[in-house]
Amino acid sequence: MADGARIGCDRLRSKIMSAADAAALIESGSTVAMSGFTGSGYPKAVPLALASRIEAVHAAGGRFRVRVWTGASTGPELDGALAKADGVEFRLPYNSDPIAREKINRGEMEYFDMHLSQVAPMAWQGFLGPIDTAVVEVSGIRPDGSLIPSSSIGNNKTWLDQAKQVILEVNNWQNPALEGMHDIYYGTALPPNRVPIPLVKPDDRIGEAYFRCDPDKVVAVVETQAPDRNLPFSPPDDGARQIAGHLLEFFSHEVAKGRLPADLLPLQSGVGNIANAVLTGLVDGPFDNMTAYTEVIQDGMLDLLTAGKLRMASATAFSLSPEAAEAMNANMGFFRDKLILRPQEISNHPELIRRLGCLAMNGLIEADIYGNVNSTHIMGSRIQNGIGGSGDFARNAYVSIFVTPSTAKKGAISAIVPQVAHVDHITQDVQVIVTEQGLADLRGLSPKQRAKVIIENCSHPDYRPGLEDYYRRARRDAYGQQSPSLLTEALSWHQRFIETGSMRG
Ligand code: COA
Repeated sequence: MADGARIGCDRLRSKIMSAADAAALIESGSTVAMSGFTGSGYPKAVPLALASRIEAVHAAGGRFRVRVWTGASTGPELDGALAKADGVEFRLPYNSDPIAREKINRGEMEYFDMHLSQVAPMAWQGFLGPIDTAVVEVSGIRPDGSLIPSSSIGNNKTWLDQAKQVILEVNNWQNPALEGMHDIYYGTALPPNRVPIPLVKPDDRIGEAYFRCDPDKVVAVVETQAPDRNLPFSPPDDGARQIAGHLLEFFSHEVAKGRLPADLLPLQSGVGNIANAVLTGLVDGPFDNMTAYTEVIQDGMLDLLTAGKLRMASATAFSLSPEAAEAMNANMGFFRDKLILRPQEISNHPELIRRLGCLAMNGLIEADIYGNVNSTHIMGSRIQNGIGGSGDFARNAYVSIFVTPSTAKKGAISAIVPQVAHVDHITQDVQVIVTEQGLADLRGLSPKQRAKVIIENCSHPDYRPGLEDYYRRARRDAYGQQSPSLLTEALSWHQRFIETGSMRG
């Protein structure tokens, strides 16, 4: 219902206008910092209107492009529409939109793929340049002008603070019961004034439930009634269930050894189907009273909460299927006090991840026999999404785990290779690798010990003999024997796929 009912502040109600009028306030060449994280809480009307305006300028022979910053991935109305209009000059920090991905991979859009915890601090440091306009979705405006956040927080606090002008989208579709779920921490600062962040448990609330926003900076308020992207997850297949099984066994073993408490440590689960399947697997596991300190709340987290296995979850955004979003909205009374959404610089903060001792579980594109992980670049040069928060968590986790099927593209590619074609996570940040074949616990192992256990436990039987043969020859012929590798041959696995469509050759 777009009737101003959610806009409690008279001053801001007087700034209600159409998305087209609001988009007209954005200039070509400017930096537009938008809300949005993993398909939730992104503005849905102004970016579309901006894309139409850009298309009209281009059709008339002109040129109109903007620099777009967000929390992370958004939806087709933002990344898709602006990329289709060829309206994005530069994009940060994460993208999963297929149209934008194609533009990036064709070299037509500059893309700065960065650690998500670093976006806000880097914006404050200033070298990324000023923010001209913030376009932020909220679920309501209070009488004093403070803003009720939406289904993601991302970098909104920083965008609202730093932008020269602010455009607000008030989305009437968002559940009003979101109010109070958020915890916006205003205590961050740059060195030398940085102080410890006073969060010692995932459930701690250290901030405020609302965004502060200077009403003088707000140039437009646009009302919308539009759902978040909410993509479905694929149901866990046998492989995903096997991965979850190996991981559960590992956690039980660690508890039995006294290296993990019986209720585990705060879980972090990355994006993607496999990560979601692992969470679903924990529903049937022996662990109770668990917590999550993570980046996104997917379906699997809600399943764990519903099953009474998870006590609470802290994140910066939702990433739910349409069914899960509906179920959560219908049962908000149950979920509301079990969920906290925070700015991404807090949900992903290295200090907090290290202090809490998160169990990090992230997906990957490929891992090599020494445990280097590529999360981003297919065949070394084509970006899939971006590093997202995987680096924030992997480096600082109590146990850093990566999960993947052992093959990709219907078996034409081995996810375990002699050498990754691009490195996102170095061996020191990768402690456990799990495929449907098994689990490699790499903690405390030298590179040669790692190679043996990764090939034996994680590689697919179709590729294992090839990897063993490669490793045997590397042990004989490599230039050095700390991490033996045959450089040209190692990367020829990827070249073989590029040339023949299969790593099998
Ligand atoms: N070689 C080539 N392509 C590969 C591949 C490999 N080794 N592994 C996966 N792919 C392709 C898949 O074929 C698929 O492409 P398609 O959609 O064109 O078929 C695509 O990559 C996604 O793979 P999928 O199996 O659906 O994986 P996923 O949904 O589990 O996601 C990542 C895996 C790595 C893409 C995802 O986890 C990611 O983006 N990670 C980085 C960010 C991150 O970890 N964020 C969380 C931090 S909190």
